Amino acid sequence: MSRNRTSLLAALALVAGTMGTALLQTPAGAATDAVPCTVGYTVQNQWDTGFTAAVTITNNAAAKSSWLLRWSYAGDQKVTSGWNAGISQSGSDVTAANESYNGALANGGSVSFGFNGSYTGTNAVPAVFTLDGVACNVDDGSGGGGGTGGGTGGPTDGRVDNPYAGAKVYVNPEWSARAAAEPGGSRVSSRPTAVWLDRIATIDGVNGAMGLRDHLDAALRQKGSGDLVVQLVVYDLPGRDCAALASNGELGPDDIDKYKSDYIDPIASILADPAYASLRIATIIEPDSLPNLVTNGGGTDTSTAACETMKSNGNYEKGVSYALQKLGAIPNVYNYVDAAHHGWLGWDTNLGPAVQEFHKVATTNGADVHDVAGFIVNTANYSATTEPYLKVGDTVNGTSVRQSKWVDWDQYVDEQSYALALRSQLVSAGFDSGIGMLIDTSRNGWGGTARPTGPGPLTSVDDYVNGSRTDRRIHVGNWCNQSGAGLGERPTAAPAAGVDAYVWAKPPGESDGSSTAIANDEGKGFDRMCDPTYGGNARNGNNPTGALANAPLAGHWFSAQFQQLMQNAYPPLS
Ligand code: BGC
Repeated sequence: MSRNRTSLLAALALVAGTMGTALLQTPAGAATDAVPCTVGYTVQNQWDTGFTAAVTITNNAAAKSSWLLRWSYAGDQKVTSGWNAGISQSGSDVTAANESYNGALANGGSVSFGFNGSYTGTNAVPAVFTLDGVACNVDDGSGGGGGTGGGTGGPTDGRVDNPYAGAKVYVNPEWSARAAAEPGGSRVSSRPTAVWLDRIATIDGVNGAMGLRDHLDAALRQKGSGDLVVQLVVYDLPGRDCAALASNGELGPDDIDKYKSDYIDPIASILADPAYASLRIATIIEPDSLPNLVTNGGGTDTSTAACETMKSNGNYEKGVSYALQKLGAIPNVYNYVDAAHHGWLGWDTNLGPAVQEFHKVATTNGADVHDVAGFIVNTANYSATTEPYLKVGDTVNGTSVRQSKWVDWDQYVDEQSYALALRSQLVSAGFDSGIGMLIDTSRNGWGGTARPTGPGPLTSVDDYVNGSRTDRRIHVGNWCNQSGAGLGERPTAAPAAGVDAYVWAKPPGESDGSSTAIANDEGKGFDRMCDPTYGGNARNGNNPTGALANAPLAGHWFSAQFQQLMQNAYPPLS
């Protein structure tokens, strides 16, 4: 329970800044040190259902080798997790005891601990604290520095604000070898890509492939004396991929207990190994899952029966909350929740509900907003990072480009504008103001000969949009092995304010799904969105799929696609 160096220091600073208030609360005429202890209790951050508090005990009496602090809540506050003290609660009574390493409390000395809690209604500071049975002065922080709201934008829980800043990123040796074996592949084979934990068996390693510990050990070797980020995709929810078939997964819709015990718990225990404490571990949490609940879980023409099941049984929500809570408790893990892409959630009618859904999942079933370092957009998708010749505010002869067939009333035409707008809505909803966005730029380059070199003609709004857009897909809802796509921006730390990094989450060259049915034991189905002869469904406006032919199963190496991605890279490969 010692995850919290930074906020411990912050708590000390807060208490130092409010000592004057503490003295005012000393009974009139009594010398300050006649009261044997002072307790600073500061609500550092508060949102609608939860809060983070910092507690500092100052001992004005004889030195102690252990301590026990008690208080009672007037409201329904419940401590959910703590650090630097063993905290237990019975009804409204809370007991906090020292850990083995912080029992010593000299005369005049202080010790601090912290915790997260839940509450409803008001969240008043307890009136009375006793230290080893003796009542203390109370400093509730109201003299300044306490406050509520979205955090500082600085480090939380000992984490740095942006783990990618100043750090190398892990190059997966297995992906790198496949890329290097391709003609021309050495131009990209030393780029970092994410490791997908897409089955329970990947934790130990499937058929001789590297397991999670192998990757982390290799990451330590790559790290040397600097900092290094390892990117892991957590992707094995019950009833996975409910609006498609290509990555249906191994767990049935009801297998939430197995997801927790056989998948998340073993990952968490490996990541918490002190041997890996010096790595920065970025986890990409369950691509497509919560977005599927928002748009495909019922009541619209895009719904699927499988998504309706996952919405009504709550197992996507429970699984994501559990992953956030378990992984978020590890001080060097940075959770990035998947937030689809602009061509999925970019309509106001989807974005508002999505923000609510993200917040709900990050504040229930044991999770809290501090378990979230940020969000990722465009995971394994093809939406351009920026459209240089097309802005959503453009008009053609007075008609908004939002009315074009391609934009179709979306509020965004590219990922960066979407990511930043989403980010501010998330902060308004209660996420930390320091959250950062990732954009998967692995396959959104759209270079090559079909790339426009300037804005389209002003003959009609559709001519203008179709002539301007670099994203050459037939429809923005197309997602499988897209013909014409290229590698996007190379992985880059902090490319823009609010964006932690451009990353290659989807390893270029790995298929999105097979173009015909292929028997397998990997939980991969055949989705006709991967079939170039299919005419589409409601989620791509019943358009042709634009998928490449002869594609292997999702995740398998697809040489022709890799070659195309290099060919159409933008920026071009040198
Ligand atoms: C597949 C996974 C694969 C991942 C990365 C997903 O679509 O389902 O098996 O690891 O893509 O290529």
